[in-house]
Amino acid sequence: MITTVAPTKTAWWRHAAIYQIYVRSFADGNGDGMGDLAGVRDRLPYLRDLGVDALWFNPWYASPMADGGYDVADYRAIDPVFGDLAEAEQLIAEAHAHGLRVLVDLVPNHCSDQHAWFQEALAAGPGSPARERFWFVPGRGAHGELPPNDWQSYFGGGAWTRITEADGIPGPWYLHMFSPQQPDLNWEHADVRAEFEEVLHFWLRRGIDGFRIDVAHGLAKKAGLPDVGPTPDVTDLPYQDRPEVHDVYRSWRRLLGTYDDDRIFVGEVWLPTPEQFARYLRPDELHSAFNFDFLCSAWDAAALRGVVNATLAAHEPIGAPPTWVLSNHDTIRHVTRYGREDTSFDMGDKRLGDPSDPVLGRRRARAAALLTLALPGGVYIYQGDELGLAEVQDLPDGVLQDPTFVRSQGVDRGRDGCRIPLPWSSDSPSLGYSPAGAEVEPWLPQPAEWASLSVEAQLGDSGSVLELYRAGLELRRRELIDLPEALTWVDAGVSTLCFDRHGGFRCLVNFGSTAVELPEGATVLLSSGPLNGRTLPTDTCVWLHLE
Ligand code: GLC
Repeated sequence: MITTVAPTKTAWWRHAAIYQIYVRSFADGNGDGMGDLAGVRDRLPYLRDLGVDALWFNPWYASPMADGGYDVADYRAIDPVFGDLAEAEQLIAEAHAHGLRVLVDLVPNHCSDQHAWFQEALAAGPGSPARERFWFVPGRGAHGELPPNDWQSYFGGGAWTRITEADGIPGPWYLHMFSPQQPDLNWEHADVRAEFEEVLHFWLRRGIDGFRIDVAHGLAKKAGLPDVGPTPDVTDLPYQDRPEVHDVYRSWRRLLGTYDDDRIFVGEVWLPTPEQFARYLRPDELHSAFNFDFLCSAWDAAALRGVVNATLAAHEPIGAPPTWVLSNHDTIRHVTRYGREDTSFDMGDKRLGDPSDPVLGRRRARAAALLTLALPGGVYIYQGDELGLAEVQDLPDGVLQDPTFVRSQGVDRGRDGCRIPLPWSSDSPSLGYSPAGAEVEPWLPQPAEWASLSVEAQLGDSGSVLELYRAGLELRRRELIDLPEALTWVDAGVSTLCFDRHGGFRCLVNFGSTAVELPEGATVLLSSGPLNGRTLPTDTCVWLHLE
């Protein structure tokens, strides 16, 4: 047990609660069935009152939307579906006025095939300098009919597409680690580096507080683009986590240092080992990164304790804040994961369609919310987490839009089920997502039962998930954020997680099937579900004040 420690004043991003906005699905302001910046602007007071510190926007740039905006055609323009640059500037200013910082997604690994550079490269012809900004490589085989190597796209299928030259003759192949509409940029090229530095300045000058870096581990490719081979070493793949990528982040960090306030980089770093991951968070690189090991962990005391310990051990030596995340726009929502028999998650095998008990899942999701809010460091909340939304698993094929569905030939039904438009009110046609009178359907259908989970239905209902988040975020802000980024485990039985953040604050989660006694003299600050007298029921988390 530790004694009370004097609070420290830490930089905002070390303990921020960051809310992720998938703009298309958040709120539709102009009535076209598609979420937009106007919709977000209308709901800023909701986000302020929720009690988060910052907003991270999924890509809002001009895009053909082959991958929900992760195929950027112009990094300096807002897609007309979402609004325009003036409106983004307005939104940034308004968010700031509400005390909310703004992070934008930066997608440096690839751009859209409609980006001016790629179009120029196609038109410029074989051997032209314009092609050197990408990976155009002659095919193998007698006539170049085979792809240059054996790399597979993360979305399924090969990672190369062959082009046809203007004269109709088959040309070289280009690399795309995602869909063919997302050609990988060549980070060895000076133009690419210079362009992204300009893009960073462009948004920093508009008051952005930071960037979420998409596929941060992917930019550099191994020289010669060698085959992966039949039995690859996953810690040493030629298309990810190459040492050169760290130079990029070091130069970006220097660039950020020329701005006088506290702006940050958050990396999307999916890598197999904590050692590889931690290298991205060295003091002269990114500020923080998403903790996917935590997201993927089973709902199990020992497993989660292991992940928490490994997280703290990986971050502490490099001075980076730990972070915690339960869901995002790429994963199965955790209400659904935690309601399954196997509660662990694997990006490569999402097991969409596995039976899930929503009541059990929601109960655990509530406990998980308080657990993440009590842990030291930063926390990410994906839109709809605060409403207890589950994955929508019964979308008909005809409405699916995620390229993974087609690329995997239907094996992976994709990520649309976690991207359903939010329910704001209970009895309007689109559950308040589109404005009253709008005559179009939301871009993905909402389940009818979401009426009872709408913001309107939950606000003011003390038993709702939304009120739990609001209370948890408020208490966290008051009690926890200035404490050292450490915890002290307390032994409360094998089926529990129990830790103190300081002498007077304890978090206790019961994963077991039998109720657990609360400690003598403890006062309940908040619990994720009803207590049974002085005992904590299964799958429940409680925050305690200890005398
Ligand atoms: C990241 C994004 C994902 C996108 C992919 C390609 O993993 O989170 O949504 O499809 O990168 O940009």
